Amino acid sequence: MKTEIGDVRPTSLAHLVGQRGVLDQVAVALDAAHADGKKFDHALLVGPPGLGKSALAEVAAREMASGFHEVLGQSIATPADLNALLLGAQDRDVVHIDECHELPKEYQTVLYLALDQRRLALGGGRTGKSVQSVPLADFTLLLSTTDEYGLMQPLRDRMKLLLRFDYYSPDDLALLVRQRAAALGWEVHGAILPLISGRSRGRPGSPCGCSRRPGGSAGPRATPRSPPPTSPGPAASKGSTGGASARPSGSTSASSPAGRPG
Ligand SMILES: Nc1ncnc2c1ncn2[C@@H]1O[C@H](COP(=O)(O)OP(=O)(O)OP(=O)(O)O)[C@@H](O)[C@H]1O
Ligand SMILES: [Mg+2]
Repeated sequence: MKTEIGDVRPTSLAHLVGQRGVLDQVAVALDAAHADGKKFDHALLVGPPGLGKSALAEVAAREMASGFHEVLGQSIATPADLNALLLGAQDRDVVHIDECHELPKEYQTVLYLALDQRRLALGGGRTGKSVQSVPLADFTLLLSTTDEYGLMQPLRDRMKLLLRFDYYSPDDLALLVRQRAAALGWEVHGAILPLISGRSRGRPGSPCGCSRRPGGSAGPRATPRSPPPTSPGPAASKGSTGGASARPSGSTSASSPAGRPG
């Protein structure tokens, strides 16, 4: 049973709040993919932690009705890990590598060559000679990072979309908490929303964390323990998508060969 505000996650573009520029870019790319019957474009998602890069990656896969494969860059420790990830993807699937700047340079090279050739060189071992190459499906690669310059230029160049995430405005954060509380059937007094969003430092993960349901009671804590800071988040985004309330997330047609919890 879903009892925490973080238990409900956005499952469609309409559930995502704020990040107007990013969401507009994604909407255009989704429309183009649907119109042409093609995959979603490769994209680089850049921004500070907790701004919704992983949430957007999952939503893009759902909007494409595609399989979703997600790994952390640092969890790819051997060539076999990378091979399993790439070979596990089917046509139009979305492969999301989070914290991709943690990916060793040699694997970044394998990745961009794989995108170019749509083939994967296997074997070779210490001789450096490739034993065989196998075809890869026509998947979408989404790379998320807090440090875009930790990625090799050739790999960045292969990403058709550059999605830059910015901090959220207090209004967006208040909307986000209201949506999630509604999805959980909680009643939240309107007066509390600015208090939660005001102490969230511009990140959606923060209000979701500070508005946990206290054990055994019927809803979120009604009063913050200390006065909220007066300053808003580090920066503000320009607007919100508004619209639908957040729904609990089900599973995508996902598989995660070396996955992490979302
Ligand atoms: N635009 C949004 N609308 C609604 N919920 C959001 C939005 N962006 C993020 N969230 C929620 O905020 C939380 C943090 O988002 P997420 O994990 O996607 O951030 P991230 O950028 O991937 O962070 P990290 O860099 O730490 O991986 C999640 O619970 C996510 O569902
Ligand atoms: Mg993430």
